[in-house]
Amino acid sequence: MTGTSAAVSVSSVLAELFAAAARGCRDRSPLTQRLLTDAAYDLGRGGVTARIMAGSERDREGTVPGLRFAGAVHRLVLEGRAPALAKHYPSVGGSPHLPTLWEDALPALTQHADLLRHRVQATVVQTNEPGRSAPLYGGLLVAAQEAAKAAGRQVPFCVRLLEVGASGGLNLRPHHVGYQLPDRVLGDPDSLLVLNPEWTGTPPADLDHTLRVVGRAGCDLTPVDVSTEDGRLHLSSFVWADQLDRWNRLRDALDLAATDPVKVERSAGPEWLAKQLARAERDVLTVVWHSVVWQYVSPADRAMGRAVLADAAAKATPTTPLALLVFEPRRAADDDYRFELLLRLWPAGISLNLGRGAGHGTPFTWDVTPWE
Ligand SMILES: C[S@@+](CC[C@H](N)C(=O)[O-])C[C@H]1O[C@@H](n2cnc3c(N)ncnc32)[C@H](O)[C@@H]1O
Repeated sequence: MTGTSAAVSVSSVLAELFAAAARGCRDRSPLTQRLLTDAAYDLGRGGVTARIMAGSERDREGTVPGLRFAGAVHRLVLEGRAPALAKHYPSVGGSPHLPTLWEDALPALTQHADLLRHRVQATVVQTNEPGRSAPLYGGLLVAAQEAAKAAGRQVPFCVRLLEVGASGGLNLRPHHVGYQLPDRVLGDPDSLLVLNPEWTGTPPADLDHTLRVVGRAGCDLTPVDVSTEDGRLHLSSFVWADQLDRWNRLRDALDLAATDPVKVERSAGPEWLAKQLARAERDVLTVVWHSVVWQYVSPADRAMGRAVLADAAAKATPTTPLALLVFEPRRAADDDYRFELLLRLWPAGISLNLGRGAGHGTPFTWDVTPWE
């Protein structure tokens, strides 16, 4: 194979990855779908997209090069560096006109090709979805009350929340969020972030009890510092610009985080968890929480994480109970993936599947069954 034909076949592999990413946006983000479809065609003919993606041609499919490209372009728009393109982006007040999207993208892609190439290479696709605070809040109410019942207490436990894979930590303040139900608001009704949880049913808990969070901490392999403009732009760039609900939710969550900062530590989950779980607080329920993290964790870290948790579970007592609460995709009987909320409590020996919902946390159906 000549050098030229090798280069052509490498870029056609990348073009196929872009086309696959475009198909993944179908019905959810027409804007991103069109941008990636046009960029895939441009890659195939060696246009400016090939210059931007130079050096990323052999990246693994799992790194989703297309979404890194779309995120870098969205970030240009958010920074005000792509005025002609901005008129298509609802995140900055625009309205998509798909037939002219690509011709309006070209000036910015050409002018900022080097910057885009650098960013595509330097970033990983990273989101932090505040909608997941809704199943988290309901799950914490259940955990605090079930642990209390098992320990023979009248009053639910206070909670210490430990989040593995916290990203920017936007789900580390579930008690400061409002949850608008048809007849009432749970959590903090005056919060800067009020979610519509779109629940079918309600958590199997007394909703009149207040959730008391007395400690919170989070870790991530690549934490996002949402107290910086760079961190906020990083998270914002990966929200598809025409998904205004998610966009507004993220903006409100970032505003809330600014009033109530929690640092996310840079660490792999197991090491961090071992340190956090080394001490237990009396009369406090320690809850280990993770959402949409497990699929990214290496087999070695999974094994180590399980061992750290088993060790802490063996030491849990009725006055220092421990919970594992997770919201993760699980393969269902029909081979499809479902996002399920799972709870284990020690030493109570309770293991519940609390229900299932959309990947972003809303809507959610409460439906309690045993977690086998
Ligand atoms: C899809 S994001 C989900 C973020 C957040 N949990 C949420 O629900 O919005 C997955 C996060 O897991 C982190 N992650 C992956 N493997 C990890 C590990 N072994 N230890 C800690 N964090 C990890 C990634 O860096 C990323 O921020």
